[in-house]
Amino acid sequence: MSISDKIEKLLLKVEIGKPLGRKEIIDLLRMPGDFAQDLFVTADRIRQREIGDEIFLRGIIEFSNYCECNCLYCGLRKSNNKLHRYRMTDDEIINTAQEIKKLRLTTVVLQSGEDSFYSTDRICRLIEQIKKETGLIITLSIGEKSTTDFQSFLQSGANRYLLKQETVSPELYKYLRPGCQLDKRIQCLRSLKLLGFETGTGNMVGLPGQTLEILADDLLFMKQLDADMLGIGPFIAHPDTPLAGIENDDVELTLRVLALARILTLNTNIPATTALTALHPQGRILALQAGANVVMPDFTPENYKIHYEIYPGRTDAGSAAEIISKLEKDFRSIGRTVLYSPGNRPGK
Ligand code: 5AD
Ligand code: SF4
Repeated sequence: MSISDKIEKLLLKVEIGKPLGRKEIIDLLRMPGDFAQDLFVTADRIRQREIGDEIFLRGIIEFSNYCECNCLYCGLRKSNNKLHRYRMTDDEIINTAQEIKKLRLTTVVLQSGEDSFYSTDRICRLIEQIKKETGLIITLSIGEKSTTDFQSFLQSGANRYLLKQETVSPELYKYLRPGCQLDKRIQCLRSLKLLGFETGTGNMVGLPGQTLEILADDLLFMKQLDADMLGIGPFIAHPDTPLAGIENDDVELTLRVLALARILTLNTNIPATTALTALHPQGRILALQAGANVVMPDFTPENYKIHYEIYPGRTDAGSAAEIISKLEKDFRSIGRTVLYSPGNRPGK
């Protein structure tokens, strides 16, 4: 069978709803570049069938860039003493949440490094206050916590939680996240699902030592967890980390993983990640045409935003209102519109 016949057969299998196995996922990740477009078109069709043409916006507030972890890939790592650290005050966080509401978004994502300065109690009070004053759907992205903590967040009014698996290779995970354990992270994700959070996970593509087999396992993990949201972005080396200088310009491989995530999980919410946009000027649009259906504009005040430097080149210029109006224009150019609604995963 020629390569083109083989790929056509695989994509046909996908279209009629047959699940892909590990070997088939690896074949689709490895196929020659000429065929990638067919994969993207298939994922795009599935996105349209399962979710529709509307794009959901989530407003992010990066409220603290302190982190107690030392992930080799991340600019916020504890040992990076070149980074200016900040914590937003409660008032600043609430005011930013008000901004998000004013621009008609219905979801706020509260994101930070692993920063124990914010006790569980304090986070709960913040959640309650944001809920009371804005009624926004609240997503937390604040790292690993105990099941009891997760439960408290839920009781205070949090609805969703993002915790990327980063990679499901135990060896790679141990190397990239010193002192952390993959099992513990997976346990957190299972607790979140069990408690009833809409749960997000995801990975980075292009990490040193990562193979296509590992990427296939990442994808199968996302499916097996029955995650509701999947963040898939390219690794971008940060100059002040141990991985400085490791080149990754493989936008296409990230898009292939994203497309396969759509094909495997059908109705999940998949953002066009900021990292894709940082790596390629058309990254966001390409992702939206390869299975993505969510965009997460950054509402962090300008004076802080520049210091949330996980990797270089990540900020959109301008005020949140300007960024959103530009996004809407970009979406219209590909026949898509924003739906100002909570955008739950269908059926959840
Ligand atoms: N390149 C791309 N993404 C990164 N992240 C951390 N460092 C990098 C990097 N160098 C992502 C991780 C993490 C989130 C905070 O940012 O996936 O979950
Ligand atoms: Fe901290 Fe997350 Fe960066 Fe790791 S990836 S150093 S946990 S902010």
